[in-house]
Amino acid sequence: MKTLIKNGTVVTASDSIIADVLIDDEKVIALGANLPGEGANVIDARGKFILPGGIDVHTHLELVMMGTVSSDDFYSGHRAAAFGGTTSHIDFACQYKDESLKQALDNWHAKLQGKPVIDYGFHITITDPTDAVIDEIPNMIDEGITTIKLLLAYKGRLQVDDTAMFKIMQKAAAHGMLTMIHAENGDAIQILIDQSVAANRLSPVDHVLTRPHWAEAEATLRAISLAAMADAPVYIVHMTCQSSVEQLMYARSRGLKAMGETCPHYLFFNLDHLRRPDGAKWVCSPPFRTESDNEFLWKSLAQNNLQVVGTDHCPFFLDGTKEIQYEDKRIKIAGKELGKDNFTLIPNGVPGIEDRMPILWSFGVGRGIISMNRFVELCCTNPAKIFGMYPRKGTVAVGSDADVVIWNPNLKKTVSVTNTHQRTDYNLYEGMELIGLPEKVFVRGNMIVDGEKWLGKAGQGKFLKRAAGAAVI
Ligand code: URP
Ligand code: ZN
Ligand code: ZN
Repeated sequence: MKTLIKNGTVVTASDSIIADVLIDDEKVIALGANLPGEGANVIDARGKFILPGGIDVHTHLELVMMGTVSSDDFYSGHRAAAFGGTTSHIDFACQYKDESLKQALDNWHAKLQGKPVIDYGFHITITDPTDAVIDEIPNMIDEGITTIKLLLAYKGRLQVDDTAMFKIMQKAAAHGMLTMIHAENGDAIQILIDQSVAANRLSPVDHVLTRPHWAEAEATLRAISLAAMADAPVYIVHMTCQSSVEQLMYARSRGLKAMGETCPHYLFFNLDHLRRPDGAKWVCSPPFRTESDNEFLWKSLAQNNLQVVGTDHCPFFLDGTKEIQYEDKRIKIAGKELGKDNFTLIPNGVPGIEDRMPILWSFGVGRGIISMNRFVELCCTNPAKIFGMYPRKGTVAVGSDADVVIWNPNLKKTVSVTNTHQRTDYNLYEGMELIGLPEKVFVRGNMIVDGEKWLGKAGQGKFLKRAAGAAVI
């Protein structure tokens, strides 16, 4: 089955050119002027942009945590992603105590059965770093897993110590794998949490006050320094503030193999949002900081001091005692109300897999902070390169997977939970005005979104085996 997209402007990380795009089956087979349309479904994209499908390298779908489960599963999360222009994502398969990495991976593959619509891969999160587990790391490459995530926070639950971090970085680097770090000092944070609870300071804003930006800056520099000693590439996930990004800038100015990601929500919100009556909506880790940090992050994206925008999509209901309608089902999943009297019991995480590209387009490209090419680089190309999927994914080029978004720069929308598709009862960006949205979305040549119409089918998404030795950007 052929599709010819005519007269659009193809936007890659480096170029914007008016060209037709010819798709045959799953691949882009030609790019150029006046391509022949015989036998093809022809789509006129005049006045629109043809972008590579977005890649979100930081998601947590149906993640069991804090007495509940993140409310998007591997079908609803994929549907929401697609409506926002994202056609691939990498989720975290988490190894829990006494499990092997292979067991963890099998558990995550099982969750996907019959559900995926977009393409997906896994990072492996190590939380019980025994010697046997560390020896198992290279086996992951045959499974298509080339990235390892460690958390320096969530003491007693997921946190690993410096011995484990250093050994894992050495092992990973020796096999061309990348170590990703959730950088917060979990030891200091746990003391601050205990003190806050003892003093009866239990409201959502106390979540922020017990996780100071210094905890992030310290852990970022520690991770980067250990990576330098291990001669390992390192990627710091969900960076929130000037003080941690400055550590990354220092590392990069010294030629270290260090890269960083931020998420859209850290560009917009600050600790005052957690003082609101519905402050639980904004409880995530690391927490929200200040308006000055928001601005610093925008500049960091523009100036290549950060390399990727991921979402850390980990949605929960604000009020999980009430059902919502999702497609033809009534859904009720316990959520942030679990911590209504105590912030330590609020499930950590926010939705965003659908919002990422539309929000970044309207407020980044639309305000002239980043170019369209930089937008593609941050949302598509850098993720593909850093995570071992380029050029199959992350660009529009002959031979690449036909993951393509026809982006209409004139489409407008006021964001609402009622006109987005993330399976939860709120949208962080409620009321914000967007200009420029995905209009048609293709995954490997299959159109899965056509305007408001959902054409995706559960089961059509494929597992992405990724290659080791990926680029350091
Ligand atoms: O609050 C968050 N970010 N929840 C998801 C888990 C994590 O730390 O990324
Ligand atoms: Zn994290
Ligand atoms: Zn995360």
